Order: sequence, then structure tokens, then C-alpha cells
Amino acid sequence: MTASVTVRVPAKVNLVLEVGPPLADGYHQVATVYHAVSLFDEVTATEAARGDEDEVTVTVEGPGADGVPVDDDNLAVRAAVLLSEYSDSRRPVRLHIRKGIPVAGGMAGGSADAAGALVACDALWQTGVGRPRLLELAAELGSDVPFALLGGTAIGSGRGDRLTPALARGDYHWVVALGDRGLSTPHVYKELDRLRSGRVLPEPRVPDAMMQALRRGDPETVGALLSNDLQNAAVSLYPDLDRTLAVGSEYGALGGIVSGSGPTVVFLARDTEHALDLSVALTASGAAPEVRRARGPVHGARVVDAGRLP
Ligand code: C5P
Repeated sequence: MTASVTVRVPAKVNLVLEVGPPLADGYHQVATVYHAVSLFDEVTATEAARGDEDEVTVTVEGPGADGVPVDDDNLAVRAAVLLSEYSDSRRPVRLHIRKGIPVAGGMAGGSADAAGALVACDALWQTGVGRPRLLELAAELGSDVPFALLGGTAIGSGRGDRLTPALARGDYHWVVALGDRGLSTPHVYKELDRLRSGRVLPEPRVPDAMMQALRRGDPETVGALLSNDLQNAAVSLYPDLDRTLAVGSEYGALGGIVSGSGPTVVFLARDTEHALDLSVALTASGAAPEVRRARGPVHGARVVDAGRLP
């Protein structure tokens, strides 16, 4: 019987995203609070026959699947190749991705798929690589990939890849307003540099007040303190986001923010009922073409089916 492993991986929002000036390597130093929410991708890794043309192949299904590359540019493929080389497994594998995370939406969908592929192939090949090294491989693949492995709520520094788990109490109810097109992350960072050129920028730092509010489990304060340095840049490239943000605030969201590099906008609601009201308002007003509801924090990449492992 063919061996196969399926991993479920969450989307992320950044409750705080402070961005420093551009560095020599083109990246930016950030200080961020990651928070994993219950929109999931599923990545299945299935053993393939030796002698297949490509060692790693990928197929993608679900909303926005057309926009996901199915060649070596796919981050999940790169993850499988990296782990195969590092662990010297070199066994052909077929990856299949079921998208539940918006594509090019600023919720780290591509990073989630990379984390999913790492965990699925690790289990399939029984590499014994171990968690700390898996996190290092994740960081090589992209700034948000380590957090997709970890999940929960965590502070990110460096490029966003250095993580410290954060103590957070309570359950947070999110309304997620999807854009009708994607935004490219490098493009949004470039726009931010253009908008801030000539300014002297402070060292990025997560405000203590946000960490205290999370420790207390105080959604009102968390909502009031949501902040994202990339927001103005995303709005500059996608001006309709201003209206989406205004409608959420009009309907009593505790806070609203562009998620990462956008264009997804997330609103914090008081409870399940408020989240439902807010979703209806956003859809009915035409402020968001499509809306989802999500809870956070949730766990990181996790095996959900490995029934047919030898
Ligand atoms: O790390 P990742 O490959 O996901 O980053 C995608 C792009 O986002 C980078 O090429 C860079 O343009 C931008 N980026 C950045 N600073 C960060 C993270 C990402 O400039 N800390």
C-alpha cells in the first residue's frame, strides 16, 4: 500500500508588525506578534515510484489554486527538496495541497505549505531530523515558515524568522475580509520604502502594552493596539482597503488591520455572534467580496492522517 501523510497548517495574522529600514540583503528587520488562526491548508505527501521524471511533484486544489505555481518555484516543493537533501532521503514524493488560506493574501499561505511539506515529508521519510533543525530549515525557506510550524502566538524578530512563544490567554474571534486580487509581498515592502524614504526610523519593537493585553486575555485592548507598518503601503497599492477598514470599524470591530502585506483585512470581534454580524455587514455593504470567520490562536503544522504509513 502507498504510504501517505497529511498535515494541516494554519494561516497567520500579525497583531503587530513593525518594520525597520531596508537592509543590504533587501530584507527588513521586523518586530512582530504572530497569531495563528483557523484557516488551514492541508498538505499531503505520498510516496512516488522511483524513476519518476521529477523527484518532487505538486498539485493544488481549492480557491485561488490557479495562482499557485506547480513547478520548482512552489515553496512546498522547495521544502521537500531541501529536507530530502539535508536528510539524504532522496525518495520521490508527490505533494498535494488543499488551499483554505487565501492565496497572495498576506496570511502566509505559501509559507504554510512549506511548513506542511516539511512536516509531512519528515514523517513520511522518518528522517529523525528533529524539531530544532526543522525550524532552521524552515527559516531558510522564508521568514514566516518557522511560525507556520510553531503556531499559537509568538514574537518574531530578525526577518520574522526568530521566534519566542508568547503567553496569550483567551480565544480571539476574527472576521477575515478577502481581497479580489493578490498583492506581492516584495512589492508592498518596496512601496513602504518609497513612502518612508528620507525618514529616520526607530528600531522596530513590539509594544509592552500589547504583550500585557495578550497575557490578560483582553480582546478590547488587543483590538485597540493592532498595528501594521505595511498597512499604508498596502492601501496605497490597493485603495479599496480603506473602505473595508472603515466599514469594519463602523460595525463595532474591536480593531481592524491589513494582514501582513495584504490585501486581506482582519477584524477582531467581541464573540461568535458579533463576528457573524460583522461578516454580514461587510458582505452586504459590498466592502468585501468574500468573508470568512476564524478563531485564534490555533496550533502549528500538525499531522492529521498518517494511516497508511508502513
Ligand atoms: O522571507 P520571504 O521569502 O517570505 O520574503 C518575501 C519577500 O518579502 C522578500 O523577498 C522581501 O522582499 C520581503 N521581506 C522583507 N523583509 C522581511 C520579510 C520579507 O523585505 N523581514
